[in-house]
Amino acid sequence: MIGMTRVVLSLGGSILFPTLETHTLRTYAPVLTKLSESVDLFVVVGGGGEARRYIQAARSTGADEAFCDEIGILVTRLNAMLLAGALGEAAIPRVALSPGEAMEYAGRGKIVVMGGVTPAQTTDAVAAVLAERARADLLVNLTSVDGIYSADPKKDPGARRYSRLTPQELLDIVGCGGMEAGSNTVVDMVAAKVVQRSRIPLLVLDGRDPGILEDALFSGRELGTIVTGDKKSPLPFRKIRSP
Ligand code: UTP
Repeated sequence: MIGMTRVVLSLGGSILFPTLETHTLRTYAPVLTKLSESVDLFVVVGGGGEARRYIQAARSTGADEAFCDEIGILVTRLNAMLLAGALGEAAIPRVALSPGEAMEYAGRGKIVVMGGVTPAQTTDAVAAVLAERARADLLVNLTSVDGIYSADPKKDPGARRYSRLTPQELLDIVGCGGMEAGSNTVVDMVAAKVVQRSRIPLLVLDGRDPGILEDALFSGRELGTIVTGDKKSPLPFRKIRSP
């Protein structure tokens, strides 16, 4: 809706679909529906465990990495369709296949869902490009860690979480990650570059508890990691008011 704060969420497959059987659609659907009452909402869904299983199966047949990426994209779109179904009336009942198509569905007061788009990136990049296309006020990445760390917190007990980063600092951090199909870094390189050029603030949050999203957006508490050009600038989500 015109005048509403626009938010693009990158909802990691590891959060929504650790496996098909352990999906969290029932807990996330009401949270997203409620959020869409106070913001113009776009959700990009990741591939999760099933994407990795499919990619592994393709790789075992000798498929190249770009082919494996295409398999991953199909799974993200299936997951996005499942989310659209779980959201019912609150969402457009189709998966946008490109940011352009997502814009065609925008402005109807419904959540727009997307999966992947093109090989050699992840859904974080799709969400960043969509945020740019939609002139979003905020990009949120919901993932399975509580922010961006100086090292992998699952492997290095000395890793420390950054509360604020500039886009350049983010680029320096993610520059070290690999990019084979199904690989898993907190934010991918393409996403980091788009965040830098668009200057759209990025919030990286722990998605394992959906309450954290509500808390970060509505309470004004600084949670996770905030990536913004001016580390002292007011945060865009202060504009968001609880419905
Ligand atoms: P993601 O890596 O985005 O899903 O896509 P994920 O499992 O949700 O990742 P987390 O949980 O956020 O870490 C799964 C795979 O699909 C392919 C890539 O191979 C990616 O690893 N993909 C996805 C693309 O090639 N292009 C896209 O635009 C999206």
